[in-house]
Amino acid sequence: MTSEGNIPFLDLVSLHKELEPELIPVFQKVLRTAGFVGGAMVEEFEREFAKFCDTKHCVGVASGTDAVRFALMAAGVQAGDIVVTVPHTFIATTEAISQAGARPDFVDIDERTYSMDPIKLQEYLEKECYLDQETGRAFNRRLKAPVTAVVPVHIYGQCADMDPILELARRYKLIVVEDACQAHGAEYFSREENRWRKAGSMGQAGAFSFYPGKNLGACGEAGAVTTNDENMARKMRVIRDHGQAKKYFHDVEGYNGRLDALQAGLLTVKLRRLAEWNRKRQEAARRYDELFSPVQGIVIPYQPEWSRSVYHLYVVRVQDREQLQQHLTEAGVGTGIHYPIPLHLQAAYKDFGQVRGDFPVCEMVAATILSLPMCPMLTAEQQARVVRSVQQFAMAETLRES
Ligand SMILES: Cc1ncc(COP(=O)(O)O)c(C=O)c1O
Repeated sequence: MTSEGNIPFLDLVSLHKELEPELIPVFQKVLRTAGFVGGAMVEEFEREFAKFCDTKHCVGVASGTDAVRFALMAAGVQAGDIVVTVPHTFIATTEAISQAGARPDFVDIDERTYSMDPIKLQEYLEKECYLDQETGRAFNRRLKAPVTAVVPVHIYGQCADMDPILELARRYKLIVVEDACQAHGAEYFSREENRWRKAGSMGQAGAFSFYPGKNLGACGEAGAVTTNDENMARKMRVIRDHGQAKKYFHDVEGYNGRLDALQAGLLTVKLRRLAEWNRKRQEAARRYDELFSPVQGIVIPYQPEWSRSVYHLYVVRVQDREQLQQHLTEAGVGTGIHYPIPLHLQAAYKDFGQVRGDFPVCEMVAATILSLPMCPMLTAEQQARVVRSVQQFAMAETLRES
């Protein structure tokens, strides 16, 4: 962390300093071979990451946004379809849905996990849609379009409750693309299958971002899709490369969406540490949980028994979020808000015509969440300082109220 004793929200400098001896040879190798795009380094990373996620295939792409988009396209989402997701996510989720030609539509989140509420999804399918006898799919009455896919988001490093979502998907023939952009290595205990499953291995595909601040981050932009479906993997390899399986033979119009060889090489080095980094994040989360137990007025993250979160973020909820954030900034503690404005209330989606009150859980959560410092290098002393600062604030608030 910094020399002034501040605790930054995220410390990527120390993390990379420690890895410099392993990262620099990757830069040298790429420079000396001029193998900048595709090739053996990309293939090695794809093999290793597929293994890490318990999937047969991994397709490296240019970003997490491309990963969601290409997965939906390869799974068969068509222009004009509806793809259901949550309003409590980064806008990339819905950007990718729109870029795949579909219309994003929302269901609310669960109050404790902050991810898709399967009951809300069920209500959406049963009450807002009818079953099209011809296709066996749900057809949305309001939007007059078929619902063909669902994108649960594994927010903050914790899997959405996948069993009931997968069950609804089977019933309504929905494609499932997991947005696992924040959940590298997260696990979900499937009661249905009586086993732990990895994020990105449960739907037809899982989309990952390697944006630098992620649990597995590149030194630039990068992403990947995991899948067990060979046909989908083949399609995505074509889509990411201008629609060509063979150079200059373009079967379809595709995208410039490949993973850089340099990023793949750097990611392969960092992937070897990912399990250990995730463990450290989990330990840090346990420590925060304990330290916060006597503090009034703070809602700490909820981890159901079916989840092993990898704590991409440690997010608490408080009533006076802005004041607490200000107090922590003054105390030298970095924080973030992920995310302050639900997607249905963003200017970008004003044409959807949705208003405050449409997704009350998401709106309540967005108004009260605060992300505290979390990274593998966070020390117990720093965590104690963060919690002390929060406690000071909570006590001052209580005095003011009494
Ligand atoms: C939930 C979620 N989905 C998608 C993305 C998009 O990833 P990228 O920034 O790599 O395009 C992100 C990245 O922040 C994300 O957090």
